[in-house]
Amino acid sequence: MDTVLILDFGAQYSRLIARRVREQNVYCEVLPHSASAETIREKSPIGVILSGGPSSVYAPGAPQVDPALFTLGIPVFGICYGCQLIAYTLGGKVEPDGGAREYGKAETTFDREDALFSKIPETSVTWMSHGDYISRLPEGFRSVATTDVCPTAAIACEAKRFYGVQFHPEVRHTQYGSELLRAFLFDICGAKGDWTVGDIRGEAIRAIRERVGDGTALLALSGGVDSSVAAALMAEAIGDRLTCVFIDHGLMRKNEGDEVEAAFRPWPIRFVRVDAEERFLNRLAGVTDPERKRKIIGEEFIRTFEEKAKKLGGADWLVQGTIYPDVIESGLGSSAVIKSHHNVGGLPEDIGFKGIVEPLRMLFKDEVRALGRDLGLPDAFVDRQPFPGPGLAIRIIGEITREKLDILREADAIFREELIASGVSKTLSQYFAALTSMRSVGVMGDGRTYDYTLALRAVRTDDFMTAEWARIPYDVLDRVSSRIVNEVRGINRILYDITGKPPATIEYE
Ligand code: XMP
Repeated sequence: MDTVLILDFGAQYSRLIARRVREQNVYCEVLPHSASAETIREKSPIGVILSGGPSSVYAPGAPQVDPALFTLGIPVFGICYGCQLIAYTLGGKVEPDGGAREYGKAETTFDREDALFSKIPETSVTWMSHGDYISRLPEGFRSVATTDVCPTAAIACEAKRFYGVQFHPEVRHTQYGSELLRAFLFDICGAKGDWTVGDIRGEAIRAIRERVGDGTALLALSGGVDSSVAAALMAEAIGDRLTCVFIDHGLMRKNEGDEVEAAFRPWPIRFVRVDAEERFLNRLAGVTDPERKRKIIGEEFIRTFEEKAKKLGGADWLVQGTIYPDVIESGLGSSAVIKSHHNVGGLPEDIGFKGIVEPLRMLFKDEVRALGRDLGLPDAFVDRQPFPGPGLAIRIIGEITREKLDILREADAIFREELIASGVSKTLSQYFAALTSMRSVGVMGDGRTYDYTLALRAVRTDDFMTAEWARIPYDVLDRVSSRIVNEVRGINRILYDITGKPPATIEYE
């Protein structure tokens, strides 16, 4: 299998580049920038990409690359910071500003004699974001693209197959970005582009069997996409030596617990459903602080899982549905830790397991979905929107009661049903109802009401780190509103949330 390595100089960039490479059916991995040339060589990559990053190459402590990388005979492609780093490391000069500052779209002229640009028009728009620029090229290099302000928008040393671009081919604003990456991967590195979901499946199953041997494994199934696909994959690899423990904390959406059970009952595994609603609600009684609620749910989840695991006689391995963005975001190399969500998937490591198996560790979300489909999980299951571990507890402001949960479940189900029926759901990343604990005066029939206010939230986002509120058609909102007030007792007012993230977050607590 062809492998391309991406050296990470800033997680946001490396993650997007990895996406774009895999979209071309070429397998790639992200390594910290500090990876030695020896580590790189051992992985036998067909090419190495140096990502962008927020530093200046000449700043004290700026992340560097092992100079021996350039002696391995492997093609190297530097993007933005990566491009400057190639120039800097090989004896060129990088300087600040110099009037060459560029942020945003830039009309760029390419040298079509160069293999990287031979298949794209001579001029097109690229996306720039740099203050520094390469003022002197290293020996053997030439400038192969320019903009009005930047004389070195791309550099190349064709003899050694070293290339760098000052702009970002991985972002969609760069008109021929995909074509450029393709030219590097296929024309320069000689990639075959034959990496598929089938390969992922076969390879993953082989790796699981090798690791687990004839041992047993335990998996905490939340019903979310990641743990579900991990379960399906493990089931295929080790069959009934897998036990899935599904803890129903009573904070699920309408019918969700039964849906999870129905999806997993037919698999040849041990499936254990733990009804822990009572236990969770008792511990949450009277608690109003959001962080406290999250903490309690996290702790209670671990405790419930531990108790059940003990009762079941333990297992050799603990399986987790960690996916690649989690790995990268947990601070690979120099990257900042972007999110530290309290995920109820964060399970104990010290209850006697030989180790942890993370079969989806190298996959992106859409690859996980494709794999789930390939394994035979129903589409409706695999295409699920993200649902937070703490469930409806963070969609009810303040204290959680059974009454509030029931009201929210009904209202949320109607909102989701109407969005799916109207086709609007396909354009959304996440959508749900939240129960504000505000009550207000209303009138229904001839009588006064004093009931809860419901908030509807629907967002679009690529990465869930920022999001915009979705412009849902008024007639759909109108239908949702009249259905909810007519069908759900306890709600007499409905608001549509028109804040993005930032300043708000997607969830309410
Ligand atoms: P926020 O509210 O931080 O949410 O804008 C971003 C995304 O993360 C999900 N989320 C969670 N997922 N455990 C999870 O598994 C959590 O504690 C948690 N909190 C938020 C949220 O649904 C959204 O997709």
